[in-house]
Amino acid sequence: MRTRLDHLVTAALQQGSAVPAFTCYDFTTALAVVGAAEDAGRGVILLVAPKTAGTSNGLRLIAALRGLADAASVPVVVQLDHATDLKVMADAVAAGADSVLADGSSLPYEDNIALVREARSVLGAGVVLEAELGGLAGDEDRAFGADEAGVAVAGLTDSAQVEDFVARTGAELLAVAVGNVHGKYKGEPQLRWDVLQDIAVRTHIPLVLHGASGIPVGELVKAAAMNVGKVNFNTELRTGVLSALQEQLPAHRADGENLQGLLGRWNTSAREFATSALGMLTR
Ligand code: 13P
Repeated sequence: MRTRLDHLVTAALQQGSAVPAFTCYDFTTALAVVGAAEDAGRGVILLVAPKTAGTSNGLRLIAALRGLADAASVPVVVQLDHATDLKVMADAVAAGADSVLADGSSLPYEDNIALVREARSVLGAGVVLEAELGGLAGDEDRAFGADEAGVAVAGLTDSAQVEDFVARTGAELLAVAVGNVHGKYKGEPQLRWDVLQDIAVRTHIPLVLHGASGIPVGELVKAAAMNVGKVNFNTELRTGVLSALQEQLPAHRADGENLQGLLGRWNTSAREFATSALGMLTR
């Protein structure tokens, strides 16, 4: 069943849990994520990348994900991730997205606020808006290099801006930069729990942690206690699927060009990853 993102996340936080969100470039991954959520009896969030939503195929994928969400036995939300373009936001919502991250984090502070407010006026009150304050380094769709070539932390969220930002944007969720990055970390991730704590006392809206791939489980389990109700994964999910495909491809080619079997391996890899994330974030 579909649900509102803020309702799903708030209900999870009341139980001391956070809800994982997974980037879905394709329907096979989305089926695996929703299957894992149904097995766990937990809600889940399907993220659509803006580069996906910016194409007619991507809009059809959103419509398919919405059908999947409607048919699921657990609450499922379809969210457009990291959008900066108002037309892409409007198209994604028309195609079936329930929620949008109106991401003005790379803009000056006042322009960031203006983008979220414009998104609200274009999308209306029924669409749940996430906003982002603070710069998150890294590429959202591709992860390069190992430790030494990984991504260094960009600007942290300025906790002094949080109250004003939340009040003026009207966002229902707030994505923060507390040492998290997209893609691979440069060295060990050093999450700034002190900054997160400072943010958490300044707003009641749920916080969102992007760039969860590579953050140790022992750190991620602390998130919900700091009002982080949504945790975004992409890179680790891709790594697992691509490794499974690489390993399984020769045998499946030899087995009569068995694409159906290979897709089954894809599903298993994504499902196992989603199951472990759901378990890790659930109290
Ligand atoms: P990772 O690719 O680092 O897992 O981050 C995903 C993300 O934050 C999607 O919004």
